[in-house]
Amino acid sequence: MSGVIGKRVLITGATDGIGLAMACKYAQAGARVLATGRRPLARTDDIFGGATLTYIRADQSEPEEAARSIVQTMKTMGWTGCDLAILNAGIGWAGNPADEPAEVLAEQVAVNVESPVQIARAIAPALFEAKGQLTLIGSIAHKGSKKFATYAATKAAQRGLARSLREEWRDRANVQILHPGAIRTGMHAKAGFKAGMFRIFFTGSRRASNAILSAIESGVAERVIKRNFIFRTGWRTPRRLRKVQ
Ligand SMILES: NC(=O)c1ccc[n+]([C@@H]2O[C@H](COP(=O)([O-])OP(=O)(O)OC[C@H]3O[C@@H](n4cnc5c(N)ncnc54)[C@H](OP(=O)(O)O)[C@@H]3O)[C@@H](O)[C@H]2O)c1
Repeated sequence: MSGVIGKRVLITGATDGIGLAMACKYAQAGARVLATGRRPLARTDDIFGGATLTYIRADQSEPEEAARSIVQTMKTMGWTGCDLAILNAGIGWAGNPADEPAEVLAEQVAVNVESPVQIARAIAPALFEAKGQLTLIGSIAHKGSKKFATYAATKAAQRGLARSLREEWRDRANVQILHPGAIRTGMHAKAGFKAGMFRIFFTGSRRASNAILSAIESGVAERVIKRNFIFRTGWRTPRRLRKVQ
């Protein structure tokens, strides 16, 4: 990663999965990182290893409160601007939509939709000050995904938000949304989805976070982040025999 030394980077949902990987990478590369999550942490080292960063609990099931805590902490850290904000925190629920409990549905909307709206609104002045970038971590599920109806709806809402803010904030801050495909993190298990043997087709979390980081660096407006499978067809000579020939 180039050019991140001293940059002020906010990452939500940084206690697990790709958020955790990105927070550690930015901190190790010399960025000033404000990482958030829903868990209270007595010692940041327990999760972030040796990475030097600031962690606060900002529970996005309470969107306004989460946004307020983030802005308050930025002020305490002396940040007048923010160079990069990665709104990554997200949850899902897998199953028949008819069986989805109302409170689970409401929580997904609060964490995945209301919170990004509230946080983006709250940190806009800091992003404008730095002419920074807002990156939303969406999902290819925004197109619709069986067993993940509410989750898919929230990801479609994120796309609408990103595309709207991109126009609203033109010339003041860059806005992008990235749409990862299935990644090998704990998210599916937390959502109650048993991927079984299909998990081998998921992108490894390290590879996915590297691809996400390079898309963030490029500043591209939208990008799908997924593994490409190249199936070779036809007969091929095994390598061992090719050497002999
Ligand atoms: N994994 C995939 O296949 C996949 C595919 C496409 C898009 N995505 C998106 O990528 C993002 C990260 O997913 P992931 O796979 O890395 O999931 P993950 O491993 O479950 O990490 C999600 C992060 O969000 C945090 N979070 C959950 N609820 C929160 C709340 N109420 N307040 C604050 N933080 C909260 C989690 O905290 P805890 O550590 O306490 O759980 C965790 O740090 C999500 O937006 C997800 O929708 C994932």
